[in-house]
Amino acid sequence: MSRELRFDGRVALVTGAGRGLGRSHARLLASRGAKVVVNDLGSSTSGGGRSSEAAAQVVDEIRADGGEAIVNTDSVEDGDRIVAAAMEAWGRLDIVINNAGILRDKAFHNLSVEDWDLVYRVHVLGAFRVTHAAWPILREQGYGRVIMTASSAGLYGNFGQANYAMAKLGLVGLSNTLALEGQRRGILCNVVAPFAKSQLTEGVIPEHVFDALDPEHVSPLVARLVHEGSEVTGGVFEVGGGYFSQLRWERSGGKAFRLGRPIRIEQIDRHWEDIARFDERSEHPANVIESMAPIVANIDAGPSRGGNDLIDVDTALAAELPELHSRYDERDLALYALGIGAAKDPTAPDALRYVYELHQDGMKAMPTYAVLPALNAVLSAAREGRSIPGLNYGFDRLLHGEQYTELTRPLPLSAELTQQIANTAHQDANELAKLFR
Ligand code: NAI
Repeated sequence: MSRELRFDGRVALVTGAGRGLGRSHARLLASRGAKVVVNDLGSSTSGGGRSSEAAAQVVDEIRADGGEAIVNTDSVEDGDRIVAAAMEAWGRLDIVINNAGILRDKAFHNLSVEDWDLVYRVHVLGAFRVTHAAWPILREQGYGRVIMTASSAGLYGNFGQANYAMAKLGLVGLSNTLALEGQRRGILCNVVAPFAKSQLTEGVIPEHVFDALDPEHVSPLVARLVHEGSEVTGGVFEVGGGYFSQLRWERSGGKAFRLGRPIRIEQIDRHWEDIARFDERSEHPANVIESMAPIVANIDAGPSRGGNDLIDVDTALAAELPELHSRYDERDLALYALGIGAAKDPTAPDALRYVYELHQDGMKAMPTYAVLPALNAVLSAAREGRSIPGLNYGFDRLLHGEQYTELTRPLPLSAELTQQIANTAHQDANELAKLFR
């Protein structure tokens, strides 16, 4: 059995601890030796009214069990006062559990600015004010444990809870950043998204499930996260009814389009599966650097110099390919002939005629030179950055598969040529054959 996890000497502040989850957290920590500020405004679920009763009762319960606790009835919107209460009583603060909450559930079209604002103020501004007041103390002492209480409504959305969902997911963003900023100062910050029976969930959750959702099933996870032995930070945990788990982001394998060319809506459409599907290529980015990694990789890959990415099949199939132009003269013929080994034996009859333009019997063109003008034309089109309409690659990516040359007369010693490339995609075999006659 693992050793008992205790909180002796630690001071904890739990907001909204007069009832429900906060009460359970406060009681558990106090039972393990923590001194606890039991904060609660004692408001109704929708934020109206004010009473010190709830918090006072929890403090009584803690004391009756032999623990140490004080009452605080400030609103979390006055977070500095709650923090000051901890400092006045015990001169330190180690654990901040942001738990206070209200609901103003309305379908979005019925939501008033007041409903929006009040929910924001209690959950987000309240957590900010409390944590912001505690932050310098935690930083200074190089130690702190902070909890934000989110909700599945924020993580997934929930009908009638636009305001609440916004606030709860806002707390996840806040926690993620505080986890980063606090790390070097020994401050850990995590989020719990609980399920528990309380005045907030009464009537919302089916009765048989509601009864089984004891807040005491959530508090052990919260306590584990705020224990001095914990190293977990930036986590989001779903917990309730005896179930405990951690949540993370999943990103699809995605699709990167090389830069340097416009990205068309049709490309997004064609690659929708790659963009949106979760499968074995999926990743779980855990920070901004991991988030940006594929973007940076795509930028580093530089602008597209080709690729087999069809961008518009119809355009490609229908394309009339451009005429290409090239020229050659005696010099090109001589270099080519030398390159393939002509005149290796200069005494051989005729050898020099392929490499010397002033040969007494006249220069001759090597017949196989006929393959080169077309290739040269394509390469010079590639150098000019010309591409095939509808395809996301240039002439530089063409594969020269094979070639057939039929000579009906000797090649001239110089020529200016026009090459017509046949788009075989839209020509039948007979038409093609005609082209080559
Ligand atoms: P609860 O209503 O039993 O406890 C919330 C407490 O916060 C109340 O005692 C209330 O007086 C207090 N409070 C409200 N406004 C305050 C303010 N301005 N300053 C100080 N205290 C204030 O509700 P429950 O269920 O225990 O909720 C605790 C937290 O857990 C809330 O943040 C809630 O949104 C969150 N939560 C609860 C879920 C559940 O299943 N019970 C589900 C998801 C999130």
